[in-house]
Amino acid sequence: MRLVKLLANLGYGSRKEMQIAIRNGWVTDANGNRLKADSKTAHAEILFDDQPLDPAQGVVLLMNKPLGYTCSAKDQGRLVYDLLPDRFRVRKPALSTIGRLDKETSGLLLFTDDGTFLHRVISPKSDVPKVYEVALDRPLNGSEATLFASGEMMLESEDKPLKPAGFEVIDENSARLTLHEGRYHQVRRMFAATGNHVTELKRSQVGALGLDGVGEGEWKVLSDAEKSLIFQ
Ligand code: URA
Repeated sequence: MRLVKLLANLGYGSRKEMQIAIRNGWVTDANGNRLKADSKTAHAEILFDDQPLDPAQGVVLLMNKPLGYTCSAKDQGRLVYDLLPDRFRVRKPALSTIGRLDKETSGLLLFTDDGTFLHRVISPKSDVPKVYEVALDRPLNGSEATLFASGEMMLESEDKPLKPAGFEVIDENSARLTLHEGRYHQVRRMFAATGNHVTELKRSQVGALGLDGVGEGEWKVLSDAEKSLIFQ
């Protein structure tokens, strides 16, 4: 891909602006040599304003989403995209979240611009488990493990039972839940059906991939090894 188009697609600016950036010598290789519009330098070797270029198309990001941020590109209020560089909003192809977390849910959120990867993660065939840490208003009543594992639990206004979910007690007011699907407000509705109320909800894992070391509001680009943990 020509350099102007590559930079414009990564969101650094319009094609016109990128022509100017190249002409002004802001785009160089790792040795500081100015690149021309038709340079064939490898993506990893290109610097823009002395900084390595953003990851090429096919990127997967992991974010530790804080509470109060909405998984949308153009809603009111604080958005998960506010935590990424501005130019990530205008990348082509677009960077989308892989599934969503509620505004008042924190934790592991993935983004990608790779539609095939996105569908692989959310496809029921892949059966990627998602692990949630749940804090509850009232003590657990002891019925949860059996009910959640039954494969027969029905949520209000739905016509298909939930798939069996894993359940682990942490203490009397908190638990770890492992889901194999993603229905609307699923965790909150499952506990509401037991007469309880979720006060805090955090996703800690997608497949075998965890948040390790990524602080709240922070994000990182996943390596191939980290991506493959999702499917383990
Ligand atoms: N279940 C919920 O209730 N909310 C989420 O954000 C994710 C799962």
